[in-house]
Amino acid sequence: MGQQMDPWWKKSVVYQIYPRSFMDSNGDGIGDIQGIISKLDYIQKLGIDVIWLSPVYDSPNDDNGYDIRNYRTIMQEFGTMEDMEQLIEESKKHGIRIVMDLVVNHSSDEHEWFVESKSSRDSIYRDYYIWRDGKEGHPPNNWGSVFSGSAWEKDEHMDSYYLHLFSKKQPDLNWEHQPLREEVYQLMTYWLEKGIGGFRMDVINFISKDTQLPDGIVHPNNIYGDGSPYFINGPKIHPYLQEMNEKVLSKYDVVTVGEMPGATTDDARTYTNPDNKEVNMVFTFEHMDLDSGPNGKWNVQPLKLIDLKRNFEKWQHALHKVGWNSLYWNNHDQPRVVSRFGNDSEYRVLSAKMLAICLHMLQGTPYIYQGEELGMTNVEFQKLEDYRDIETLNMYKEKIEQGISHEDIMTGIYAKGRDNARTPMQWTVEGGFTTGTPWIRMNPNTDEINVEQAINDSTSIFYTYQRLIQLRKQHDIITHGSFQLLLADHPNLFVYKRVSADEEWLVVANFSDQTEQLEWKDCDVASKSQELIISNYGTVQTNEIVEIRPYEAFVVAFKKGIEN
Ligand code: NOJ
Repeated sequence: MGQQMDPWWKKSVVYQIYPRSFMDSNGDGIGDIQGIISKLDYIQKLGIDVIWLSPVYDSPNDDNGYDIRNYRTIMQEFGTMEDMEQLIEESKKHGIRIVMDLVVNHSSDEHEWFVESKSSRDSIYRDYYIWRDGKEGHPPNNWGSVFSGSAWEKDEHMDSYYLHLFSKKQPDLNWEHQPLREEVYQLMTYWLEKGIGGFRMDVINFISKDTQLPDGIVHPNNIYGDGSPYFINGPKIHPYLQEMNEKVLSKYDVVTVGEMPGATTDDARTYTNPDNKEVNMVFTFEHMDLDSGPNGKWNVQPLKLIDLKRNFEKWQHALHKVGWNSLYWNNHDQPRVVSRFGNDSEYRVLSAKMLAICLHMLQGTPYIYQGEELGMTNVEFQKLEDYRDIETLNMYKEKIEQGISHEDIMTGIYAKGRDNARTPMQWTVEGGFTTGTPWIRMNPNTDEINVEQAINDSTSIFYTYQRLIQLRKQHDIITHGSFQLLLADHPNLFVYKRVSADEEWLVVANFSDQTEQLEWKDCDVASKSQELIISNYGTVQTNEIVEIRPYEAFVVAFKKGIEN
């Protein structure tokens, strides 16, 4: 299956670090680069070969670094350029590449390009951003921002508006303007020359806007229009990515993953087909939206496992032998998966392992978000003041103004707020993240869930992840086998097969706290010549009818052509 030709990242497992919350080396309560360096042994022990580093660039931190003031300097709180170079070098010694976050749909409003751009209509930087005149005292169109309110901010001095799909301190860059694109290619080259291993590209499928900027439909319960049809996978997105690839990426042996809300499987086939020379893989949002109701993210609904299975099936089939999938449950924008799709009380350990096994047996490159390997959980702060995330705080304000009760809003925040992922990494019983006061409160369950505990317990979630990473390196069926969904309509069991020329692997995962029954004959595999690959209960029965215990997961291999 052309395995010799395989790029290295097809067998990689990526570990995402949110630097602010990972490890603080100097007691200021904020994670930093030296903190990361001090934990490389830990990351290596897990088996990781790529780190995706959320932004470490200079930033006023309106959106924790996703608002970049200078793409070529390091945020003071995180350290210096020397620290960054040291991180790249030390990581190499640990067999780990550093993938950086590339945030070029927008910059900070404090970036010198924007400061210049708004200084005069004649500035040579004017067209680096998207400026329009208002319409009779109103913004140029009705689009809402992802972070609440209008997507337009008026610059009183110049009497015109700039577009910001995120916060007003994150003005959108104008990709129509060729000099801007050249700047981006140069800054990418600057980092690649420092020896990084690639880029995770922030909302990269938003960069091409319909230049007419038409009004969007106003959905029920909304004040603003939905502009997404005019900027998601916009008219020039493919030429832009191809240009970026030709001018920069093609010259380096690196990995690229595009964060792409709203990308369908058809889009992903185009973006990730190597013949098109765009990106290696995309982050889909479809499985992350399955527990949202008609009113969006905060309108939380229970996940229907059948939807999740169908969704994975669609993506596994669509990209098989065409492009490549990324696989993830968690990142810095998503709640903790064990609280979301597992069970973070009685079955926390079992369900965290089940979720890991279920995801890591799929085709694609898995991403582990810091603390996921410990089964870190969501957090419920009683006071709004303990929350830090701009999306959460803006949404709260907007909903209170609409008359929604504090309790109702907090229910959404507890389930979906991004700060669930951003509480500090739990290293020890006391926390171990900082000797000072953390910038955001620790999850109080650090006394029970922490690295120290995990490392010392050979049955911990950590070692399940470690084993899954080893399996991926050892078995080509995980990388290349085809995917077949079984028992598609079962409400609690996720059962699938991976199939290669000489073997079949059966993956069984119970997403409920009920005991379920499974008949081998329904799985279309022989029941005897099986080899247990991994399991979260440690044993698997071989009876014709197997009892699948609460949150149980296992993988068994069947060699083809061997008689029972
Ligand atoms: C996606 C990032 O993951 C998120 O954290 C950020 O707020 C937005 N893009 C804007 O950059």
